[in-house]
Amino acid sequence: MKEIELITRIICRSYDELDAADRRLVDAARGMTRGSYAPYSHFRVGAAILLANGEIATGANQENAAFPSGTCAERSACFWAGANYPGVAFEKIAIAAEGTDGTEPETPCAPCGACRQALLEYEKLAGHDVGVLLVGRDKIYELPSVRSLLPLAFSDF
Ligand code: THU
Repeated sequence: MKEIELITRIICRSYDELDAADRRLVDAARGMTRGSYAPYSHFRVGAAILLANGEIATGANQENAAFPSGTCAERSACFWAGANYPGVAFEKIAIAAEGTDGTEPETPCAPCGACRQALLEYEKLAGHDVGVLLVGRDKIYELPSVRSLLPLAFSDF
């Protein structure tokens, strides 16, 4: 018998502890919650991806009356970046949210499983780890890679 332990390391920081580049990315993700179209859930999510060319690609969740036709902020941002900057590596992604009460959730918003899988594809394309910043009201979770959010991921066939 052998046991395999999967460990996810998260560094919890305050906004003030971030460097200027990370603050800029967090600000962009927070700002993008304004671009959310969430008339059904009233949960507004913004995502911002720092690309290797210095650009920041952003996205927000876009809901639809036919629920599965909507998409999350992370996928709207990563697909936009993939389409507009093909071949440009992702460096880091920040994700922020505004809850149904109109305030930022205390616990940082974590991407859904489908978004983790979508982001993993771009991490693979980048050829290096893509850092993740999950933004909450007073704390920001910093993860070293998308991979660390999706242990035992399906990535090859
Ligand atoms: N949502 C995101 O955009 N990203 C996440 O990481 C979690 C959930 C959206 C989908 C839906 O529009 C709303 O939040 C409620 O699930």
